[in-house]
Amino acid sequence: MTPRLIPVLLLLTSSLAPASLPAGRPALVPTPWQMMPGEGKFRIDPATVTICYRDDRLAFAATWLAGQLARTFDTEMKPVQVESTPDRNCIRFELATEGAVPPAEGYRLVVTPQRATILAGDTSGALYGAITLLQLGPSVAFRDFALCDSVPGHDPGEENRQGPRWHRVQYPVPEPIDGYSVPCVSIEDSPRFTWRGLLIDPARFYVSIEEMKRYVDIMLLHKLNTLQIHLTDGQGWRIEIKAFPALVTTGAIGVGNQPQNVRTYPLDGSKPKGCYYYTQLELKGLVAYAAARGVTVVPEIEMPGHTAALLRSCPELLCQGSDEIKPGNSICVGQERTYEVLTAILDEVMEVFPSRYIHLGTDECWRGNWEHCTHCRAKMLELGATDTLALHGYFVERVSEYLQAKGRKAAGWDEIFETGDKPGILGMFWRGHSPEAVRMVERAARQGQLLVMTPTTHCYLDYRQAQDLSNDPPGLGNSVVSLEKVYGFEPIPDYLVPELHRNVIGLQGNLWGEVLFSFPHMQYQTWPRACALAEVGWSNPEGRDYREFVGRLQGGHLDRLRAAGVTFREPGPEDAP
Ligand code: ACM
Ligand code: ZN
Repeated sequence: MTPRLIPVLLLLTSSLAPASLPAGRPALVPTPWQMMPGEGKFRIDPATVTICYRDDRLAFAATWLAGQLARTFDTEMKPVQVESTPDRNCIRFELATEGAVPPAEGYRLVVTPQRATILAGDTSGALYGAITLLQLGPSVAFRDFALCDSVPGHDPGEENRQGPRWHRVQYPVPEPIDGYSVPCVSIEDSPRFTWRGLLIDPARFYVSIEEMKRYVDIMLLHKLNTLQIHLTDGQGWRIEIKAFPALVTTGAIGVGNQPQNVRTYPLDGSKPKGCYYYTQLELKGLVAYAAARGVTVVPEIEMPGHTAALLRSCPELLCQGSDEIKPGNSICVGQERTYEVLTAILDEVMEVFPSRYIHLGTDECWRGNWEHCTHCRAKMLELGATDTLALHGYFVERVSEYLQAKGRKAAGWDEIFETGDKPGILGMFWRGHSPEAVRMVERAARQGQLLVMTPTTHCYLDYRQAQDLSNDPPGLGNSVVSLEKVYGFEPIPDYLVPELHRNVIGLQGNLWGEVLFSFPHMQYQTWPRACALAEVGWSNPEGRDYREFVGRLQGGHLDRLRAAGVTFREPGPEDAP
């Protein structure tokens, strides 16, 4: 066990510094919990440095780091598996033994003039140690970072090359270099929250599997670990379900009011034009790619509202008397056929996604058609229910019990708690701090339920980033979620008593797709606001300082994103601390 490091974070961040970096302070994002500067530098170059590891469990992280260094130096680099690690000229990955283990996803990085050592108890920790090591170097350490292994030459900006800058890949790939030095330092680091998520919404704005992998790469760069994919909604059904082919032959043909959404998929013509969906095999590939990078993919199969695409494909799930499928239609929850179809769908979903949680949506459910439907009314009578809200509660319990019986857990938006506590369900709070939401959060936490905070006010990345739209794309609605607002987010509500804090397991930024029109645009809406979210989710909240954070963005981190080939929004005068 190395000696405990003295936390220097507070010393470094407490003064009201200008938006530039204190001399010699590396611009790490998210900022680590403990960092102690050392003496001297360590040189990384392909001629002298070996990347080595002993335990098989560290092979991926070592190979991954070698891959990135190879891109920076434009040369071959391979890690070596060794019995005993050399003392000099090496980057060593070491598996932490019991007792010396930094907590889950944690790592210790010690850089001396002779070597860099990354000690971690799991793959995520090893990758995060490697990311921090890369961040200690120049921005070219992220040269062509995103997805180079999988899609050489892929240009996600092709379809919108002529558009405004948020539809374009903005930065040229930097020239490779021969080597670089990093400052000596000791860092001990682990996340504050276990759920550090982003949501994307291909039901509204379709993105290719390759683009999602690229998104995962940039999540890894920020130590984000959960990607929720909103796979189904009224506008489209995006996941192949073998038991119900119509879900993609009909349901995946998007209907929506998005004249700017000019995508045609796929380019090779193997599926009908306008039929945007992912095969199960493609999704399994994405899940594996993300898992290797410490990112869990959580599928969201929206029910019982937001189901017009499901109803277009399976009209027998309409309520009696609802012969017309309107965008807001909900499925009939009174008939048994609904549960047969949904459980068959969920069986296939669970086969593709090994995640502990399957997200059922459950939000914004219009219940009007239930009031007049014979099946729904009979179900209400059977349950002794006096209103259709109780029917929503019955539906949620029944489907989540099915998941539970299969060894999984349901997650849902905060509406899932509207009919009372749902043991074992994860709730995502999106409706901010309304009195109703506060009551639900308190009650759910007291019942021991786990919560992820994702309020519209701080976490909705589809909202505009600035009031003035003369140089920025509009977002959904008129609300502004600025960089400063996001950075100021505190996931633990101040009304929760300390013993309930541990029920809040994290936060998530939601990038809904209604007003997105290209993949660069998606990135532009994400970064750097999700850099702020990543820091809120990972770092020590004590001494958090927006001015200092902007200093790290402008003093190094945004250059990394440029080198990595990521489109992002440059903070403007309105973002000045
Ligand atoms: C939501 O924004 N309806 C979760
Ligand atoms: Zn019905």
